[in-house]
Amino acid sequence: MLNQILEDLKNEVKFGYLKKKHAFRYPSLASIEDNTPVQRTVVLRDTTKDFDLIMYTDERSDKISQFQNNPSCSLLFYNHKKLLQVKIEGKMNMITSGKEYEDYWSRVQGKSQKDFITKNPPGTPVDNPDEVEYNEDEHHFCLLKLVPEHMEFLQLKRPNHIRARFDKSNNWEGQFLNP
Ligand SMILES: Cc1cc2nc3c(=O)[nH]c(=O)nc-3n(C[C@H](O)[C@H](O)[C@H](O)COP(=O)(O)O)c2cc1C
Repeated sequence: MLNQILEDLKNEVKFGYLKKKHAFRYPSLASIEDNTPVQRTVVLRDTTKDFDLIMYTDERSDKISQFQNNPSCSLLFYNHKKLLQVKIEGKMNMITSGKEYEDYWSRVQGKSQKDFITKNPPGTPVDNPDEVEYNEDEHHFCLLKLVPEHMEFLQLKRPNHIRARFDKSNNWEGQFLNP
């Protein structure tokens, strides 16, 4: 049964991001700055065959220096229709060159490229949201690849909630937990 739960967890994550309106497309990504947690919503873009999780960001955003100092991260998903929470913790890799990088950048088309070509870095103060400047000549696209080390599944349901944890150090064998 634990094997099946791990499969369900992965399938929820894999098929969630394919659907525009699926809750699992928009997880919360946590990093650490000076021993303090920092969270933000991101779009999950892809999963690799090893179940590494792919996201996109601007290489100048604060999360980049946070992951450079401490690659530990946590990605939290919640589907309110299924009362299902999935937590994936691991290490973040930042990729800014190479074939994989170019492949993903080539998928970012048209208006979506705007997110990566602002003249000033994300978080720079602006007087007016309509006055953000762009520089079409260079982009700051960065691939984020989360390599999972721990995964947790929590399904609220009657008569019994189901909570299970899976650890890479334990060959991804599962363990039920008291919810
Ligand atoms: C629905 C939604 C989706 C978002 N998707 C992304 C994303 O895929 N990548 C990203 O870097 N920021 C995304 N953001 C913006 C982040 O939440 C965050 O504001 C930004 O990345 C700056 O974060 P940082 O300063 O902590 O690095 C998204 C925000 C929302 C509301």
